[in-house]
Amino acid sequence: MSKSKQLKLGAFMRPVSIHTGAWRYPGALPDANFNFLALKKFIQKLEQGKFDAFFMADHLAVLNMPVNALKRSHTVTSFEPFTLLSALASVTEHIGLIATASTTYDAPFHIARRFASLDHISGGRAGWNIVTTANPDAALNFGLEAEMEHDERYRRAREFYDVVTGLWDSFADDAFIRDVETGIYFDPDKLHVLNHQGKYLSVRGPLNIARPIQGWPVIVQAGASEAGRQLAAETAEAVFAPAGNLEAGKALFADIKGRAQAIGRDPDSIKILPGALVIVGETVAEARAKREHLDSLVHYDSGIASLNSALGYDVSGFDPDSPLPEIPQTNAGRSSRERVVALAQRENLTIRQLARRIGSYGGLAFVGTPQTIADEMEQWLNEEGSDGFNIMFPFLPEGLNYFVDEVIPELQRRGIFRQEYEGKTLRENLGLARPTNRFFQPTAALIS
Ligand SMILES: Cc1cc2nc3c(=O)[nH]c(=O)nc-3n(C[C@H](O)[C@H](O)[C@H](O)COP(=O)(O)O)c2cc1C
Repeated sequence: MSKSKQLKLGAFMRPVSIHTGAWRYPGALPDANFNFLALKKFIQKLEQGKFDAFFMADHLAVLNMPVNALKRSHTVTSFEPFTLLSALASVTEHIGLIATASTTYDAPFHIARRFASLDHISGGRAGWNIVTTANPDAALNFGLEAEMEHDERYRRAREFYDVVTGLWDSFADDAFIRDVETGIYFDPDKLHVLNHQGKYLSVRGPLNIARPIQGWPVIVQAGASEAGRQLAAETAEAVFAPAGNLEAGKALFADIKGRAQAIGRDPDSIKILPGALVIVGETVAEARAKREHLDSLVHYDSGIASLNSALGYDVSGFDPDSPLPEIPQTNAGRSSRERVVALAQRENLTIRQLARRIGSYGGLAFVGTPQTIADEMEQWLNEEGSDGFNIMFPFLPEGLNYFVDEVIPELQRRGIFRQEYEGKTLRENLGLARPTNRFFQPTAALIS
């Protein structure tokens, strides 16, 4: 069988389920999002399923919602990404470890050091999901009264990326000679001092850790606004931005890869992996019934809170049985607001109906049998709707186990998903080149 184009699959594992009703589903582990032993089992099952990566989103504040909703949230507590992923690195061998880190509320020297450490500890499996943090409450946890303006956050992120990647290139790959005879530990001609002075950041460097095994951990991005897409085109190697249906997927795919090509990047050096909630059943009817039951577990207070956070605006004061009023633009996430307003208009939904839909994850969902789900995924792959997906599980452990035990073998049988990992590093498995060091040309030894 010719090697057809293959899907790349991430697992969206923080929160362990994006669905606010997940923890209440019969047989689900209520504390799965904050249970280390369970998370260890989940990542080992995902590695058994040959997944590319275990992805952890991250927020620097308890999600900004009223306590009536917060008290129902199974994601109110979760582990700090680097701490958890370093622990999970020691119980896995192949699966990628993608952590989210903010360019608005963190320092590039810390970020560069943490990801380089995770990459060395994991043998080259680290990835960085660059976010600018759209949660307004995060500012209050860092001594600020208000959050930075939306596009300003992205301009800072662009400079931040340059500094972090410059710090990763502090040492040449072969700088460390460790010559016990001469007592020379590293070749000082293979050390670069960054001396970065920019609009937002001033960082001297060098980084006090060897160049990551992958050269750079894999760069991921998830923003879908104008500023978000341009940052992705200039920096990202994987994009998790949402696409609610195949047409939207094709448009996002063409947009981001087109922008990258326009600045001289190879469009194949970016993998478009939209999030997809997957609910599997022995029949389509059974899978739909599971979805229906899961959605019925979403309390109105949770739904309206999810709607407010997606809109970046509080609509709980309006009549829930009336249509969505005009929503002003705020500093929150842009693309999520546009998607929800479009959905409300397209289906003429009331605020109550919208809250239920968004509360039970209103984005892309594949609900069916292993065969019908594989059909849809194959169509997205072949029609350039995406290069794969960031899979979201409906409830755990059953939703994850069912996917690995039933859907993965169907994808492998069709030749559109790997039977074995291609390489040792996340980059090699995603088919991404290893970045050259911008300050030191690779020597013959390194090239061979
Ligand atoms: C799959 C996915 C994962 C995300 N993970 C995070 C996250 O971990 N932390 C965060 O602050 N924002 C996260 N976001 C939000 C994005 O970073 C971004 O703020 C949001 O998509 C709005 O971007 P925009 O303003 O460019 O439209 C995520 C978004 C998506 C689609």
